[in-house]
Amino acid sequence: MDKLIVEGGIALRGTVRISGAKNAALPLIAATLLAPGRHRLGNVPNLRDTRTFLKLMENLGVRHERQEDVLIIDSTNLRSAEAPYDLVKTMRASVLVLGPLLARMGKAKVSLPGGCAIGARPINFHITGLEKLGATCRLEHGYVDAEIDGRLQGDTVYFDIPTVTGTENLLMAAVLAEGTTILKNAAREPEIANLIDMLTGMGARIEGRNTDRLTIHGVDVLRPADCDIIPDRIEAGTYLIAIAATGGEGTVTHCNPAHLPSLLEKLRLAGLIVDEGESTISVRWPQAKPRALKSVDIKTMPFPGYPTDLQAQFMALMALSADICVITETIFENRFMHVAELQRMGAGIRIDGHSCVINGHGMNGLSGAQVMATDLRASSSLVIAGLAASGRTEISRIYHLERGYENLVEKLTGLGARVWKEQE
Ligand code: EPZ
Repeated sequence: MDKLIVEGGIALRGTVRISGAKNAALPLIAATLLAPGRHRLGNVPNLRDTRTFLKLMENLGVRHERQEDVLIIDSTNLRSAEAPYDLVKTMRASVLVLGPLLARMGKAKVSLPGGCAIGARPINFHITGLEKLGATCRLEHGYVDAEIDGRLQGDTVYFDIPTVTGTENLLMAAVLAEGTTILKNAAREPEIANLIDMLTGMGARIEGRNTDRLTIHGVDVLRPADCDIIPDRIEAGTYLIAIAATGGEGTVTHCNPAHLPSLLEKLRLAGLIVDEGESTISVRWPQAKPRALKSVDIKTMPFPGYPTDLQAQFMALMALSADICVITETIFENRFMHVAELQRMGAGIRIDGHSCVINGHGMNGLSGAQVMATDLRASSSLVIAGLAASGRTEISRIYHLERGYENLVEKLTGLGARVWKEQE
């Protein structure tokens, strides 16, 4: 296994181009199952997770080819409706084939994803929603075996929690159902709007884009898609925080500032100057030499609240602040795996249930250390801490990072960082 070496103490400067969003690419690739023919998806990031998802799609009979950041996907001849355990266990987003397979083939056999580092992450809302549309779902031998005799029937589905992939699964099931489906308390993340735009382009009839109430009028058939993936707001946020944490100045390009409303406000509250362009965001310090970073509380919430996927990264930044703040995680029950590693680098953090109290030790408060990545976003917070720390940081198990950050070493090096990979 590889490890990442980070030489800290260098202020990041310059521009970095943001890739397509992992959490949009996965549902949009799944949605190509809904219509036979050749689909075109643009701005598709080349990540471990998108490669894994395409392996799953090959299992189902789908053919695909990549032309730079364009994916051509042909789902004409599906030969299976099964997502096997050995693939699903490495990537829980595989559950996203459940809805489209049921809609297209009337059946789907998907391994239950099992546990995950950040929480139990059940899929009960996906299952009860599909059952509401008439599917029978049997849970046995670690699989959910779903089928429908004939077509799914439109109905009203209420989500106790605005589940992102649950909303996506139900959207993809409802577009080919008989009659109208209403999704209540649906997720409103930008990736949902991206999926809605793709489905609408395929001939689906969906109302309520960007709201928590989606109305889907089922149609009989859909045509192949031609759609671009939106920019990755979590990647963009990660680089903005890294630039701020190193006392630097930089711009993320090919992004959408409207997708990061809460992070940009929190960076401004921390004392940084954040400028928004059409498709760029710049961050810099108000004075040449960064002085004190203000301590700012965050509480993760569904969009447009502060994103849970940027919680660990912001915690690394707050470890450098001048005072005390509280970070509360309301989405997942175990998303503080990065705390113990940050503490090894000198961060003053105390876990108190679903909250952490961060006692900032100032801009020179972190020192490099050997640390271990535990999940995708926790590992990016260790990179940020390593970039800001004095001395060298070695991060092991960086396959977690490669799941969600395209060309991380090249992009950071382009900002002046001294980072490289070594064999463990
Ligand atoms: C999506 O996961 C993202 N993944 C996650 O990003 C992100 O953290 C999460 O949404 C929240 O924004 C993808 O889009 C592929 P949820 P998802 O269903 O859909 C509970 C990353 O780092 N819940 O919105 O799985 C669940 O346990 C990843 O890129 C149920 O109880 O999240 C959690 O506590 C990590 N039953 C909460 O709801 C269900 O049936 C929100 O989960 C579904 C969810």
